[in-house]
Order: sequence, then structure tokens, then C-alpha cells
Amino acid sequence: MKTLDTYDFSGKKALIRVDFNVPLNEKYEITDDTRITATIPTIKKVLKDGGSCILMSHLGRPKDGPTEKYSLKHLVNPLSVILGLQVKFADDCIGESAAEQAASLKPGEVLLLENLRFYKEEEKGDVAFAEKLAKLGDVWVNDAFGTAHRAHASTAVIGQFFTDRVCGYVMQAEIDNAQKILEKAERPFTAIMGGAKISDKILIIERLLDKVDNLIIGGGMTYTFTKAQGGEIGKSLLEADKQPLALELIEKAKAKGVNLILPSDNVCADKFSNDANRQIVATGHIPADWEGLDIGPDTIKTFTEILEKSKTILWNGPMGVFEFPNFAVGTNAIAEAVVKATEENGAFSLIGGGDSASAVNNAGYGDRVSYVSTGGGALLEYMEGKTLPGVAALE
Ligand code: 3PG
Ligand code: MG
Repeated sequence: MKTLDTYDFSGKKALIRVDFNVPLNEKYEITDDTRITATIPTIKKVLKDGGSCILMSHLGRPKDGPTEKYSLKHLVNPLSVILGLQVKFADDCIGESAAEQAASLKPGEVLLLENLRFYKEEEKGDVAFAEKLAKLGDVWVNDAFGTAHRAHASTAVIGQFFTDRVCGYVMQAEIDNAQKILEKAERPFTAIMGGAKISDKILIIERLLDKVDNLIIGGGMTYTFTKAQGGEIGKSLLEADKQPLALELIEKAKAKGVNLILPSDNVCADKFSNDANRQIVATGHIPADWEGLDIGPDTIKTFTEILEKSKTILWNGPMGVFEFPNFAVGTNAIAEAVVKATEENGAFSLIGGGDSASAVNNAGYGDRVSYVSTGGGALLEYMEGKTLPGVAALE
């Protein structure tokens, strides 16, 4: 695989696939710019060599062509500020005007293309569309780790049109850190998995059972475990058909000598709202009309103690509905425990997956853990042992 450091971009137009799929609010302001700031070193390396950058990305999941809400034009100003130069914008990712803008790009300049997914061909992995994109640049750089699990035109198919395919810094760092966790984890190794559904996390949980000392499970998926064990969960999230699987995981953990820890108490609410009435109850005792939205204080204490003694930590998925400040206590406490383990116990900590990464960044802890991944699904699939099309296309 060609790396950025071994490639000289002087006089070259680098067509860089980035993952600028960032969250925007109603005013089209970016609420978490991690994915943008992460790619700046890659862009700067090309410019420093005397090359120019053509950036291409998707944003959201537009279904019917150009849509204001999903336009990458909303990113031009913030990106210009971060880079300290005026970024140009092509309001169509292919076609005559994009080709002209790309052709007239001078060394040191940056052009951002409009959302690739405004064309259905992108997600279909259309070869002709990939070829049109490929014509814009001299060398293809893939730095979109967050989208590397998609075999799309710009993430994978495009590779065949270039002799020079270069792995970006983000892509490189993501792979290195994921490998460090999977192959070189210092013990005790604790994985803490959260989120709403067991079905999303089952493959990674099974793989981790062969690697970790402690597997902590929190968040919405735990109610399925509780229900399967005969507890009362009221109106909490439940994947009814996954109850046998939950019991199976508990048995597998036992058989492999992994310490699997589930919450001992929950904060429950009488409606799904930040200003719902709240009460703390022991796991398995949620009243009929209530639902669990966070882990309780007892659970926080147990989880924290385990994390603070760990030397390697992988965290994916929030502990509760952290979008509601009243139910973000558990998620924030875990973020603090991960920071403490990193700073005071020298642990290597990797935070992966959109929600937990946002929680850590929004709490201002992004710089105080070892690595915050830009990948959600991509990181999980990589850790499950799958080949990522975006990585394979670089090889
Ligand atoms: C993500 O945020 O998961 C990536 O940008 C990929 O987006 P997708 O899940 O819509 O393919
Ligand atoms: Mg996704």
C-alpha cells in the first residue's frame, strides 16, 4: 500500500475521497467537525508538496438527487476557516464545469465537489461514474475510513482507473489503532459496548469474547438481556427475538472465562423525553409504564472501577439516551473513567462509533483519550474481521 509520506504530490492533482459526512443542525452548522479536522494533515501534506486537492465526499443519505439539506456547500466556509485558505466549490461532482474547475486548479488550491450521492451511481458502484470522477485527478487518495465499508464508486470502484492509489493519514491511523487493539492489547483489556441493539453488535461482541478480559455491556441493548433473564423492563427497548442470543452470549462469556458485566441498576423515565419523571431502580425492576434510559449510580461505580484498572479499553456505543442531558450521566461518567484510565493508568483507549465519539468530543475529552475513531460501521466491520472495500482498493 502506498502511503502519503512516500509520495511526492508536486505538480499533481490529488483526488481525495474524504468522509465529510458530519452532523449538521437546522441552520446547516456543523455540530461535530471531528471528521473534517482529522483530514487536515492529509490535505496539508499534498499542498506542502506543491500539489492541489480535489475533495469528494457524501453527506447523509439523499434519495432524490440534489437536496439543500445534504449539500456540501454548507461545509465550504468552515473548511476554509480550518485550512486558512478559501476553498473552491463545484456544485456538481461530475460534468463540464467540475472538469473545468479541476483542470484550472493551481498548486496550493483546494476544490470541494458537491455530494457524490446526488448521483445514484455512487452507491451502486457504477463503473462509468467512477471513471468520470477519476478523470478529475492524477492520483487517488483514499482517506475516507468512515466509508471504507461501502463498495461505492468513489470509495472502491474508482481505484482501477489509477496507477497511483495512496492511503491517507486518517485511513492509516485508523487501521494502525484498530490493529493495536486487536493484536497487541495489553491486559487487562476491557471492551465496553453500548447502543440500542444487540443485532448491530453481535458479531463484534462474539469476536471480542476471544480477546478481552472484561466485556461491559450498557445502553439500550441491555434490556433484552434483562428480559431474557426473567426481569421486568417495563416499556424499555426490547429485541424480543434476540433473547435466546443474549443468554447464549452470557454462556459463551462464561465458557471463555470472560468477565461479562451488565448494569445492576437503571435510571428510568415515565416518558421518552428529557423532562420525564425519573427514578433509579435495580435491574429487572422497571415499573410497567416506565422505560430505562440510562445506567444507574451503582452501575457507574462498578463500570468505573473496572475501567480504571484496565490497560486497554475499547468503547463503542453510549450507555443511555445521551442526547437528553438528564440521561447522559452514565455516558459522561464512562467518558470520564476512560480519560482517567488513559491519563493515570497509562491505558490505551480507543473510542469508536459515531455516538460514543460525539459524546467524548462534546464533553471536551477528545484529546484526553488515546484515539477517537472517525468510523462507526466501518470500524465495527474492520474489527469483526471483514475486508473493507475501501482498504482493499488501495492494495
Ligand atoms: C457513516 O457515517 O457511517 C459513514 O459516513 C457512511 O455513511 P453511510 O452509513 O450512509 O454509508
Ligand atoms: Mg453508517
